[in-house]
Amino acid sequence: MKKIAFFNVKGGVGKTTSAVNIAWQAAQDGVNTLLWDLDPQSCASWYLGVDDEHPQKSLNLFKGKMPIGKLRLHTPQPRLSVIPADLSLRKLELLLADQEKSGALLQKLTEDVSERNKLLIFDCAPAYSKLSESLFSSCDILAVPLLPSPLSLRSYQQLREFLQKKKTWRRVQLQPFFTMVDRRRKIHNDVLEDAKNIIGDEEPVAIPYASDLEKMGIHRAPIQTFAASSQAAKAYQALWQRLRTDVE
Ligand SMILES: Nc1ncnc2c1ncn2[C@@H]1O[C@H](COP(=O)(O)OP(=O)(O)OP(=O)(O)O)[C@@H](O)[C@H]1O
Ligand SMILES: [Mg+2]
Repeated sequence: MKKIAFFNVKGGVGKTTSAVNIAWQAAQDGVNTLLWDLDPQSCASWYLGVDDEHPQKSLNLFKGKMPIGKLRLHTPQPRLSVIPADLSLRKLELLLADQEKSGALLQKLTEDVSERNKLLIFDCAPAYSKLSESLFSSCDILAVPLLPSPLSLRSYQQLREFLQKKKTWRRVQLQPFFTMVDRRRKIHNDVLEDAKNIIGDEEPVAIPYASDLEKMGIHRAPIQTFAASSQAAKAYQALWQRLRTDVE
């Protein structure tokens, strides 16, 4: 099972939107996928149209008081299930701070779902935290959505440097991509050009600024289900093609 975390220390950059669309795309492509929402704002399952009729405290998972299967919910998309987040996760940092090996804890929990799933996608809260550090140790890929601004390139470089600090973090592969790109704006084009050197990608994936992506909140569904031929849906397909080669 491969593990991808959508991570950026900045908020509102498209982590959840991207995690949901990529999870859907993977499942559509025949890959058994579990989307694990680790952000107490709990948007990912909502975007997938899943209503949790019997909400459980997902913090109990980390306390070892509940099997992971109890939290898993099916989505309307075959081969795609989700572990919703809830406000109990706001206490996760306190819990992990007490655990000497919090990285090992996450690793153990993910082993429990590895038989059924080929791909595990995490939607993260915007922060460097004990939890994100556990993800750095246990994930195969960090997918990093970046706004097309000079500051985001700087924060990406900082993340890359930060990941050098520990041996267990150095093996995680980075997949940066741009979100909310408006090709009519010179600054966006300039940043994408600069990015070629900084992220070492001649053709970085660029998700356009698109009201269809905002409409996911109205449809409560991934973009591919209601605007499959849009540029934004195609850009997410392109991102999935990049990630897919590492999943297989
Ligand atoms: N490419 C895009 N074009 C236009 N709007 C977008 C795009 N991507 C995301 N959005 C909108 O931007 C807002 C933030 O997106 P999203 O929730 O995915 O970000 P996030 O990084 O997960 O935020 P948070 O850090 O709060 O979890 C949402 O309203 C979403 O609909
Ligand atoms: Mg989010």
